[in-house]
Amino acid sequence: MKHTPPLLLLCACLGLTLGSAQAAPPDWSKVTASKITLLYPGASPIEWITKGSDHSGARALRKGESCASCHDQEAADMGKKLASGQLLEPRPIKGKAGSVPVNVQAAHDGSQLYLRFSWKQPAGGGAEKMDPTNQVKLTLMLDDNKIERANLSGCWESCHADLRTMPDGKDDKKTKYVKDGNLATGKYYDLMQWTSKGARHDGHVADKRVMDGGKALVDAKGEKKGDEWVVVFTRKFTGGQGDIALTAGKTYNFGFAIHDDHSAGRFHHVSLGHTLGLDAKADITANKH
Ligand code: HEC
Repeated sequence: MKHTPPLLLLCACLGLTLGSAQAAPPDWSKVTASKITLLYPGASPIEWITKGSDHSGARALRKGESCASCHDQEAADMGKKLASGQLLEPRPIKGKAGSVPVNVQAAHDGSQLYLRFSWKQPAGGGAEKMDPTNQVKLTLMLDDNKIERANLSGCWESCHADLRTMPDGKDDKKTKYVKDGNLATGKYYDLMQWTSKGARHDGHVADKRVMDGGKALVDAKGEKKGDEWVVVFTRKFTGGQGDIALTAGKTYNFGFAIHDDHSAGRFHHVSLGHTLGLDAKADITANKH
């Protein structure tokens, strides 16, 4: 048997270590955090948002102004009003927080995207456990600039008046969808979810919501440290059907939601629309580490 020179062995080991060091999460203490305030949206489907007679933002939206440009600073006030049942909420939940400020961090290593979310557990009080299994769920959606208006409205293109749990929803199986949503044309949101029970989902929202079947999500881990939740997603740049392909240098439309206090369906806190850039200027930039 031929003897392997020790130097070669050393090189092979180094190569391996370097290789695995690359596909590792960043040192989060060195990654800038952006604060995004999630608001309780009540029943404000895109149909209500775009109907000029009800919502004075509708006209500006048609001209290309984003929800965030008008509402970002007042998200907490808006959420408070909506959670209280003052408007657009026929089923207010007693004690429901109006808003949840969340720190968002992002980084990538050339083949995987890492997203970290942290927030303080808000006060709850909902008597009813809509989701008895999970105290908390965090869901995020990405659009590859294919869904009309999602660059302005974030996830709102999937929020419709006829969905289950909506006041006008008649079909209790009808979950969120995108108008003319289609996997083949790329008109869909890529969806990922972490649940506090320990499940993770890699799905999409096209003509209907599909919770699983994607191949990009590597991990979604969360824990509560004191009164703070910390959730980290690890996602490969490319996956399978329903996984948008990420490329360094590009930006994507991005929104996320937290189901707090055992809530389900539309009773979540949501972000307005934001952009996520990979090595590119955006509301949240994932730089290579
Ligand atoms: C040009 C600014 C503007 C834009 C763009 C805009 N809005 Fe509004 N929005 C308003 C104003 C002003 C109100 C207050 C009620 C009214 O006058 O219609 C409002 C009210 C609301 C309300 C009801 C809560 C409240 O405080 O009255 C919701 C929910 C809402 N907007 C969501 C959105 C979403 C989601 C988008 C994007 C898809 C959006 N808005 C885009 C200006 C805007």
